Amino acid sequence: MAGSDLFAPARLGPVELRNRIVKAATFEGMSPKNVVSSSLIDFHRRMAAGGVAMTTVSYIAVSQAGMGAPAEIYIHDGAADGLARIAEVVHGEGAKIAAQIGHAGAVGEVPGKRVLGPSARRTRMGAKVAEISRAEIDQVVADFAAAGTMLRQAGFDSVELHFGHHYLLSSFLSPRWNRRTDEYGGSLDNRARLLLRVLDATREAVGPGLALTAKMNIRDAVRGGLEIDESIEFAKRFEASGRLDAIELTGGGSQQNQMYMFRGDVPRAEFEQILPSKAMKLGFRLFGRWLLPGYPYEEAYFLPMAARFRAALSMPLIYLGGVSRADTARQALDAGFDFVAMGRALVREPDLVNRMRDGSATEATCIHCNKCMLSIYTGTRCTIDHPEPLKLVR
Ligand SMILES: Cc1cc2nc3c(=O)[nH]c(=O)nc-3n(C[C@H](O)[C@H](O)[C@H](O)COP(=O)(O)O)c2cc1C
Repeated sequence: MAGSDLFAPARLGPVELRNRIVKAATFEGMSPKNVVSSSLIDFHRRMAAGGVAMTTVSYIAVSQAGMGAPAEIYIHDGAADGLARIAEVVHGEGAKIAAQIGHAGAVGEVPGKRVLGPSARRTRMGAKVAEISRAEIDQVVADFAAAGTMLRQAGFDSVELHFGHHYLLSSFLSPRWNRRTDEYGGSLDNRARLLLRVLDATREAVGPGLALTAKMNIRDAVRGGLEIDESIEFAKRFEASGRLDAIELTGGGSQQNQMYMFRGDVPRAEFEQILPSKAMKLGFRLFGRWLLPGYPYEEAYFLPMAARFRAALSMPLIYLGGVSRADTARQALDAGFDFVAMGRALVREPDLVNRMRDGSATEATCIHCNKCMLSIYTGTRCTIDHPEPLKLVR
């Protein structure tokens, strides 16, 4: 793919994108009935009208058991009509539409729910994680395929497999969380096995007409977790499968060390405020710095590590993490990435891409305060511009 023209059309597998900027998955929390809602349609209509080449509906659980949060879509018959509607509206604005699909695994911990992981353990919050059985693994693979089929039938252009952020599939790659001794644990080939099965099954379901991408961790950023050298080896296996049109790189996760993924301010006071009990508030006040360490924001903060994947792989890659400026996006393209994904900048300014293209903006007004992270339970938004009260809903 030639040159660093951010606004030149480019192909993502079988799909022609009008430019190189993709709206990254930012869980919207707008589906209280677990189906597409009018606010979710409006959220993505604004992204599409604002100039992105493709917007990503996220996060969609492949089954009810794979949900990570309330107000989330999960794949079931009742979700089909809404998915078709949102695809139609986004297409009406000239953009393409992707869906991020996954199984939350232990990220979906809520009191009373049976949460699954590669191996049995307790989470930091004390929840019991059950070792997923072989039959349940087969079911997860079938659920990804069913999700792919539903999204193809709904008219989606692309499906993003969530292989990152400590979700179920991410945990299989992790030497910390995957302690299995069967064919799904131990060696790199074994730890990649379930993900390769998911790749095969989802590609089969979406067919050749949709793009298929995976979002995976560069590193887990937890002690004993996945590190970059092994992650590159996994990425090579995904490339060799021939099933994927691109890989999007990320890091950190939703079980621990959440700020590694974002960088910038840590909204500790706001987090404490939304915790439901006095005991939790006190615990967070005492241990918040340890539970939620911060990392300073830098433009393109993952680029030095992501460049190692670029050197090791020949398939298309999507750069993600700290793109707030047009020149940062160009820097990523110059470094050999095929597309850039933007999250927080577009949550605040859905029309940023149009304004970068016409030259009226060169950078986002997002200040990386990260309070949008806490808005996911009440409808994801920039809380500076929309300061309605924040709430934690489990
Ligand atoms: C409010 C919010 C919700 C997010 N939800 C998801 C999600 O559902 N799935 C996912 O893979 N990443 C999610 N992310 C992470 C983003 O995709 C992205 O990795 C992160 O914001 C860094 O990119 P940025 O610097 O462009 O914002 C979320 C980020 C934010 C701010």
